[in-house]
Amino acid sequence: MNILLLGSGGREHALAWKIAQSPKVEKLYIAPGNGGTLNVGENVNISANDFPALKQFVLSHNVNMVVVGPEDPLVNGVYDFFANDAELKSVPVIGPSKAGAQLEGSKDFAKAFMVRHNIPTARYRSFTSATLDEGCKFLEQLEAPYVLKADGLAAGKGVLIIPNLAEAKSELRNMLDGKFGAASNTVVIEEFLSGIECSVFVLTDGNGYKILPVAKDYKRIGEGDTGLNTGGMGAVSPVPFADELFMEKVEKRIVIPTIEGLKKENLTYKGFIFLGLINVKNEPMVIEYNVRMGDPETEAVMLRIKSDLVELFEGVATGTLASKTLEVDDRAAVTVMLVSGGYPEAYEKGKVITGIEEVKDSIVFHAGTKIQDGKLLTNGGRVISVSSYGKDKEEALAVSFKNAQKIQFEKKYFRSDIGKDLR
Ligand code: AMP
Ligand code: GLY
Repeated sequence: MNILLLGSGGREHALAWKIAQSPKVEKLYIAPGNGGTLNVGENVNISANDFPALKQFVLSHNVNMVVVGPEDPLVNGVYDFFANDAELKSVPVIGPSKAGAQLEGSKDFAKAFMVRHNIPTARYRSFTSATLDEGCKFLEQLEAPYVLKADGLAAGKGVLIIPNLAEAKSELRNMLDGKFGAASNTVVIEEFLSGIECSVFVLTDGNGYKILPVAKDYKRIGEGDTGLNTGGMGAVSPVPFADELFMEKVEKRIVIPTIEGLKKENLTYKGFIFLGLINVKNEPMVIEYNVRMGDPETEAVMLRIKSDLVELFEGVATGTLASKTLEVDDRAAVTVMLVSGGYPEAYEKGKVITGIEEVKDSIVFHAGTKIQDGKLLTNGGRVISVSSYGKDKEEALAVSFKNAQKIQFEKKYFRSDIGKDLR
């Protein structure tokens, strides 16, 4: 079969790498892809959000399945665009409908959904400019630090954690005044939860589900989890504290009620659910839902899936996922992200990348690269992710760090403490 994968980051390179291993795949296209995806498939110069152009491509290239990497096309309704088009409706899209994608597209929707289905999450209320005064009063009832979230998509920047009340009130005002554009017309204020986070990924056909290997990502730019938030500096899988007992709680209290809730509310969902969890005294609580795989978690998680991912996707498409098997590699897998100096603030692009051919025993996934005049160049803040296996995460990390040294570009930076906070 021919598959079209949408997206252009490290997550998509890792998905493409795994999809391309399936004997079921004849052609793999990636739109728009990056300097790494063209090693495992064919890049197509179409934006993941240009639905009419995707339609033309799917019809002219006999694409049999579309897999969606990032959230925006999903929140914009790519699933529905295909399902409602006479010529496209036989082509399955792996991802939720627009209605299902609200789990990520609206934090207010996600919180209310969790309350409706008794899914453990922080206490919250939502406010608009008409209820600003009530928002300030609600803040007074909470304890510091204060968690303020823009309701809509804000490129991962819409969550503020504020140490004092006066500042929290003033930021609430700024957000409702358009700090994040329309995304913060509604603001969710919630109780601060203290604990360690992890990412649990579920693949579902809306009925059956498979829980994929659990991972932990490292969001801050600086060692010891300091400094600004990034798109992710590395990830490890498995996560020691997410043991059998913890995962049983996750399945019973979160995964099953989420899928049952989607069903009860007629929210069509055939794709990945990403549960951003926090471990509060050994009790899992949901920090957020995403409707896609995590980045850079995917660059570790894909290494641990032994089964044919395309066969699982076929299960999703045909509603037979429960009858498929998911085989997981017992080894640990990790990824370390190499980023441009200055990121996540201003940084330069277009630096020549060398040394990839010297990498041994790691898998290199491109996040922000492009090929120009035959040269591989940096093309983003996050540039390349170095993924490795090991009998445990220490062994895997040692391999990734060694190879991270071999890849060179001007002002390269990576965190050398990935995974070191976990026992
Ligand atoms: P989100 O975009 O919802 O993942 O939020 C970004 C980050 O903010 C999360 O990964 C957490 O580290 C933190 N965060 C969000 N909500 C809370 C909360 N209720 N308590 C503590 N930390 C939170
Ligand atoms: N690694 C977190 C995310 O993809 O949102």
